Amino acid sequence: MEIIDEAKNIVLIGLMGSGKSAVGRTIAKKLCRRFIDSDHYIERKAGKSIPEIFSQDGEEKFRAFEKEIIKKISQYVGIVIATGGGAIKDPENFKCLNESGWIVALYASPEVLYKRIAGKRARPLLTNHDDPVKALEEISNERKSMYAQAHFQVDTENKEINEIADEVISLLNANKEIHFRMS
Ligand code: S3P
Repeated sequence: MEIIDEAKNIVLIGLMGSGKSAVGRTIAKKLCRRFIDSDHYIERKAGKSIPEIFSQDGEEKFRAFEKEIIKKISQYVGIVIATGGGAIKDPENFKCLNESGWIVALYASPEVLYKRIAGKRARPLLTNHDDPVKALEEISNERKSMYAQAHFQVDTENKEINEIADEVISLLNANKEIHFRMS
């Protein structure tokens, strides 16, 4: 039974490779909710891939697209949202997502993140780095204060996608129960 507030979105944030899309899709399936991946949404609207947007238009243009899309999808109700890893760098994006529901930050070490994304779809922020693990560590240091503002923090290391999805759902349900008892 789902007792998580149905009107609230479930928003996943975290670095590249933290599992936002896979976990988000699984949570959505389990809770029969709609799932939106902000990067896919941007790609559909732009008619090109994220690496193409970065190389042809630049990061600034990508962030502008991202901002527009985050504003739009934050207005949906009761969905699951996977954000691009850098979406929460913009405080206004964070505010919109925060007002739309529960924010869950997913974590793993830079080594594990890199193992997960190596050989998968290109991540423009890592492509020109000799040491992508170090680059991930630096990005993580830059963003950790934003990720820390999430309502829930979940360690994803040594866990299967299904297990992480169940952990997020349990956290949200436990939180709802506490609110329910206190009101
Ligand atoms: C980015 C993460 C990517 C994508 C873009 C920028 C970032 O999404 O939005 O390449 O700034 O961390 P994932 O987190 O899904 O890889």
